[in-house]
Amino acid sequence: MKIMSANSNLPLARAIAAYLELPLTDVSVRRFADEEIFVEIHENVRGEDVFVLQSTCYPANDNLMELLICIDALKRASARRITAVVPYFGYARQDRKPGPRTPISAKLVANLITVAGADRVLSVDLHAGQIQGFFDIPTDNLYAAPVMAADIQARFGGHELMVVSPDVGGVVRARALAKRLDNAPLAIVDKRREKPGESEVMNIIGDVSGRFCVLIDDIVDSGGTLCNAAEALKQAGAVDVAAYITHGVLSGNAVSRVDNSGLTELVITDSIEATEAVKNSQRIRQLPMAPLLGEAIRRIADESSVSSLFD
Ligand code: R5P
Repeated sequence: MKIMSANSNLPLARAIAAYLELPLTDVSVRRFADEEIFVEIHENVRGEDVFVLQSTCYPANDNLMELLICIDALKRASARRITAVVPYFGYARQDRKPGPRTPISAKLVANLITVAGADRVLSVDLHAGQIQGFFDIPTDNLYAAPVMAADIQARFGGHELMVVSPDVGGVVRARALAKRLDNAPLAIVDKRREKPGESEVMNIIGDVSGRFCVLIDDIVDSGGTLCNAAEALKQAGAVDVAAYITHGVLSGNAVSRVDNSGLTELVITDSIEATEAVKNSQRIRQLPMAPLLGEAIRRIADESSVSSLFD
């Protein structure tokens, strides 16, 4: 087997390669003067089981194109099997038509990855489980919950914990985490805009007073959902609020928004490479995903069970 990486998250690729005790495949992913992407694999991959790593995070379109061209290069170099390892699957939030005459871009991206020549996909905390069905090739969706639960127990285990979903859509994810935390109680933030143009009303379903709340979500992008939920929980009497969110997209001024929020800590994974702002933040911490991804890759290569990682 071989591990190859495009440019979006080289630190994670190196950590996965170290976990597997393999060198990264020698490849260059470069730009022509007009920003066209050019990929050249400098070693033989004929007949190999190749895992190509790329998160399709910011700049999403460039990173997606790098992934597609890497897959094409591998296919034309006669790799036996190509697995696209996409820890953060961009475009996942566009998984349905929100209105007439709109696209389902997550499905389009799934088609592109498949048509480029991927035989399998491996991702982490897909925005919606159904996205697995957008691919007609085997797709493994790993969960960050066990890694998060271990960290929560180590850091905040002595508190009266309450797991909170920041919106109704995240309840299944929150319930799964609560189960891993000795069946901690669950609360839900229900956002409602009573009339168009009026600001959102945040209702908390569940009694959070006196509790140490742990917000759980798949994506923090602008930070709006997270910081508003943290504020609402504090107003409802929560003693403290920490957040565990798998993918730290953290666009625009999201980091300073988090730094100035009532959150004790925001814990993200390294599915997306940390920017300088994230590294400098006193409130944001990253959990390493290389052991989980590396182990899943090893099991896929050995054709052993991936789901048993989560038993
Ligand atoms: C939405 O359904 C997602 O799970 C996240 O809650 C959302 O993408 C976060 O976005 P933002 O940080 O911009 O509020």
